[in-house]
Amino acid sequence: MAASAHKIMSKVLIVGSGGREHAIVWAIQNTAAPPVGLFCAPGNAGISQISQTVNISADDHAGLVSFAESNKIDLTFIGPEAPLAAGIVDLFTERGLPIVGPTAAAARLEASKIFAKDFMARHGIPTAAYRVAESAEDAIKCLGSGEFGSAHSPVVIKADGLAAGKGVVVAGNHAEAEKAIKDLMVEHVAGRGAAERVVLEEALTGSEASLLLFADGRDYAVMPAARDHKRIGENDTGPNTGGMGTITDASVLMNSDEHRVVQEIVEPTLAGARDEGFPFKGVLFLGLMLTKDGPKLLEYNVRFGDPETQAILVRLKTDLLSVFDSIQRQTLGNLQVEWTDGSSACIVAANRGYPGKYEKGAIIEGLDAVEEDSVQVFHAGTARDSDGRFIATGGRVLGVTAAAGSLPTALDRCYESLKKINWPGMQFRRDIGRSA
Ligand code: AMP
Ligand code: GLY
Repeated sequence: MAASAHKIMSKVLIVGSGGREHAIVWAIQNTAAPPVGLFCAPGNAGISQISQTVNISADDHAGLVSFAESNKIDLTFIGPEAPLAAGIVDLFTERGLPIVGPTAAAARLEASKIFAKDFMARHGIPTAAYRVAESAEDAIKCLGSGEFGSAHSPVVIKADGLAAGKGVVVAGNHAEAEKAIKDLMVEHVAGRGAAERVVLEEALTGSEASLLLFADGRDYAVMPAARDHKRIGENDTGPNTGGMGTITDASVLMNSDEHRVVQEIVEPTLAGARDEGFPFKGVLFLGLMLTKDGPKLLEYNVRFGDPETQAILVRLKTDLLSVFDSIQRQTLGNLQVEWTDGSSACIVAANRGYPGKYEKGAIIEGLDAVEEDSVQVFHAGTARDSDGRFIATGGRVLGVTAAAGSLPTALDRCYESLKKINWPGMQFRRDIGRSA
């Protein structure tokens, strides 16, 4: 149980419906002084076991404002990126409703890859070399310019806008890149409007790490570095997903690299955002590539990652609500945000077919057999059937998560628990954390 220092907060609303939000709700409940009313909109079946769920979608801003007003919510926290990019923080703030998260102006760091890359360039933040293309023709011409190597060179194509994970293609050569450009800009595979413009980017090599931080517009506190496993298949094969598993471990980001990330990326980002008139308040996520020339920034997200959050929050010792409260009141500098030593892991169990089409509705067996004192089972895509049994309704269904003194122990706990859980079509990667 975490110590609690927030002012008495009686009613809290978390917005979102995934494993990330289940972990946030769990962390808020797991303190000496949980709030009297903890609501999650819209939540999921797992979240409904530990808080009240409210049937309002994360995109229904008017519905959320009205719920917060009529229920006198003391603090609202937003999980997913879409409502942030669409200005929910600005709207709540105009109505005098306390909320934690970036404004729409700050959320451009995630909502527009072009804005983010130009911001990095303005502030000297190390990142891959890039070009912006306004049309498919322009992009193909840019490919042929020699700037991105020969026809055999890898190159990365990114849709400018939010694309729910479908907007980035790491092409092995220029022919693949040309196909990606056409898919994004002509066929609209990432959605209409997401790829009116694209970024062409130098392909970087190295290992990836995610560093997340809490920021209140003045001060910040970094979280333990995490590594996601994005591909569906073992040994990083197959299509990209939202994330099939995450670890936190000292090996993910060595102290010397973390120091460079803080100096060369975190501080210039927060100072740049302040100087440009959108001080960043909320959770900032840095997607990093650790190259032989030092850490480089691949992308910003303006929110907690999923499943990074699950692995990170099981190591948080400080009361999460105190952290949110101090961000809201800009007093983060007075709070010591503390983490347990050691490591953690979150292994995602998904439905067969994910990230493509998958079957829904199978009954999940064995959840009762899992020992909840050594692992946490966070629900992503679950619901209850008419008999009250949990059923698998999402692509990603569960995130089995554990913290321990060492990474092998954390992984063992997760994999031992996964042996007890089963449904027809359950799939998970057996190699999470193996490269660490
Ligand atoms: P992003 O959404 O920008 O993080 O991209 C998704 C994934 O694409 C990243 O996690 C990387 O695995 C990969 N990626 C993005 N940009 C690059 C790059 N410049 N070089 C190599 N891989 C990249
Ligand atoms: N796991 C990566 C993300 O949340 O964007």
